[in-house]
Amino acid sequence: MLRKTFIPILLLASVLLTSWGVIGHRAIGKIAESHLTNKAKKAVVHLLGSESLAMVSTYPDEIRPYPKYAYTAPWHYVNLPEGLNYNDFSSQLKSMEKPNIYKALNNCIADLKNPSKSKEEQVFALKFLVHLVGDIHQPMHTGHSEDSGGNGIKIKLMRKEGNLHGLWDSGLIDYAGMSYQELATACDVTKKKDTKIWVKDDIAKWAFESYELSKQLYAEAAKNPDFDYDYYPHHADLVKKRLAQAGIRLAAVLNEIYR
Ligand code: ADE
Ligand code: ZN
Ligand code: ZN
Repeated sequence: MLRKTFIPILLLASVLLTSWGVIGHRAIGKIAESHLTNKAKKAVVHLLGSESLAMVSTYPDEIRPYPKYAYTAPWHYVNLPEGLNYNDFSSQLKSMEKPNIYKALNNCIADLKNPSKSKEEQVFALKFLVHLVGDIHQPMHTGHSEDSGGNGIKIKLMRKEGNLHGLWDSGLIDYAGMSYQELATACDVTKKKDTKIWVKDDIAKWAFESYELSKQLYAEAAKNPDFDYDYYPHHADLVKKRLAQAGIRLAAVLNEIYR
């Protein structure tokens, strides 16, 4: 009996903890690295030594399953009611009491700007910043609480069973079959004039973009959850755009902190 319940719990935990997946998060770190100013590069080396942004990007997912770090689990996402316009979304997001990704990101930035924080605290904040800028660009990380951001929505991709959240965390990226370096190169192709607009948007706007995208992804899954060979080609540009936006905006945040 114990074993029967234990295995599904383990499986569920492994499904819930992956965010953009290793390749997606590393690609975001890699994109950011190529848009840092010299000052920001130096500050990152001071904190991380020989580790890169790409390699630390998955740290929050690695520690999350351990009871000592269970308090960080709600930092990876935010759930809000359906159908909000930007003003209502943004005011509910900003006034939310319980821990969430918006609060966690702002805390990371505040810690990195605060010279009274120890180096260890700043390293922790930097690793979370790299990861959470990625997570907030994953549309299903601003989903609905009833289905845990799509974890509870069963879908099939090319006859393989999964859920909508996991598909957007890593299913589509795995399907593309690229290394994180290849993926970073494939994503980092945005025109300067577009990246200039992206970096002006604030964190609430990043979250609202994801919220609006999740609406579309939920609707598609509700219409027909049996996704075929068209699903990846139809969404590949969107996956790449969200990874590029995350990488470019992460670099801009770091450039601003260390300006
Ligand atoms: N758990 C509950 N809601 C979630 C969400 N939106 N994203 C990831 N994990 C979740
Ligand atoms: Zn995460
Ligand atoms: Zn996720």
